Amino acid sequence: MKRHLLFIFSFTLLGCTSSTYDDIEDPAEENQTELVTFQDVAFVFENNCIVCHNNPPQNGAPMSLTNFSEVKDAVENRGLLDRISRNEGEQGLMPLGGPRLPQQQIDLIVQWNQDGLLEN
Ligand code: HEC
Repeated sequence: MKRHLLFIFSFTLLGCTSSTYDDIEDPAEENQTELVTFQDVAFVFENNCIVCHNNPPQNGAPMSLTNFSEVKDAVENRGLLDRISRNEGEQGLMPLGGPRLPQQQIDLIVQWNQDGLLEN
């Protein structure tokens, strides 16, 4: 609860610097003051990753990304944020074979991590 209030407060403070890049001002958050949770990002994995990172994994993928704990583990231990943030055409970019995710979806997942990888 405390954290939530702090977030609203800092968002308000930064409201006048909208032309500069700032993590807190992720475009996906401009219309909301809620923390980003897995419910907000799950669609990205469903639409782009599960074709290979299924249970069981397909096409040589080393792990599943079919639920909260699997995705959280991949962020914490398998460099998921790095993989989705690589440049188009760069080796190791996920989704494998591209295209790179829309920047807005990458930012949303980065924000989910910053908000503490909450489930709900
Ligand atoms: C076409 C199949 C395919 C798709 C789609 C795909 N991946 Fe992968 N992924 C792989 C394969 C194969 C590997 C193992 C090779 C490697 O590490 O690059 C892998 C590896 C990874 C790794 C590194 C795992 C480790 O332990 O080193 C991460 C993280 C990852 N994928 C995340 C994702 C995410 C997130 C998405 C969706 C945005 C995605 N992948 C979409 C096939 C895929």
